[in-house]
Amino acid sequence: MFDQYNRLINYLRISVTDRCNLRCEYCMPAEGIQLMSHTDILSYEEMFDVVKVGVSLGISKVRITGGEPLVRKGIVSFVEMLSSLSEIRDLGMTTNGILLKKFAHELAAAGLHRVNISLDTMDPEKFRQITRGGDINAVFRGIEAAQNAGLHPIKINTVIRQSREEPDAVAVKEFCEKNNLEIRYIHVMELSKGEFSVVEGGEGGDCANCNRLRLTANGMITPCLFSNRKYNVRELGAEEAFNQALSNKPACGTVNEVGQFYNIGG
Ligand code: 5AD
Ligand code: SF4
Repeated sequence: MFDQYNRLINYLRISVTDRCNLRCEYCMPAEGIQLMSHTDILSYEEMFDVVKVGVSLGISKVRITGGEPLVRKGIVSFVEMLSSLSEIRDLGMTTNGILLKKFAHELAAAGLHRVNISLDTMDPEKFRQITRGGDINAVFRGIEAAQNAGLHPIKINTVIRQSREEPDAVAVKEFCEKNNLEIRYIHVMELSKGEFSVVEGGEGGDCANCNRLRLTANGMITPCLFSNRKYNVRELGAEEAFNQALSNKPACGTVNEVGQFYNIGG
């Protein structure tokens, strides 16, 4: 499908949950988060129906995000459902890696092609601080498991404050070079202030070439991370929600006052 700016839209990012087992400083507030109510969260069957409509409209690339996708029960069978659609030629997941050791092989067997894993520092103490309590060694074990499971190419998402030369980012880059991992630098963004930037080494944030739509866990198709617009698949039906999102996809993002990374999926 093409939008009104003649961009080919073939990429759907699905946030399967707004829950997460970490609390990264730049992503979630320490407390007082308004989580989605369980009745609003789409079942995997409902999500699958939306994806099938998306595929019929030309979606060929799907990424599962969150929150943290591996905390939602049944995620492996959802991957299996998606991988049964032969039109999806690229099926990836973005995860914090904490639970990957447990899931990597099952995910690969279910048909997941590859993973992106978040890692901002090599320092255990700093990691604990950024994630408000996370164990960096669990992430390292997760990365190793993903490599053994063949979830290649594995990309590492590194959030940077200033530049890719800052010490934490340099250390992560060295780790990536030693371990055959691709690093992508993501400048820390403030959605509500309209601060956004391109992902260095990735595709995000390049508005002129944006090919994506998103599905949130509570069934909203959103045309742009940096926009308040959203279209409810339960109210409109999936096809109409896709069409409205498509025709309301902005030329370029501006500001998002209603969503957060943990409930739109970064
Ligand atoms: N700014 C930039 N990236 C963010 N992410 C989450 N919150 C932010 C933010 N405020 C991204 C991180 C993480 C991914 C899941 O979401 O890059 O790796
Ligand atoms: Fe695409 Fe919106 Fe991101 Fe721009 S800001 S790259 S239009 S999703």
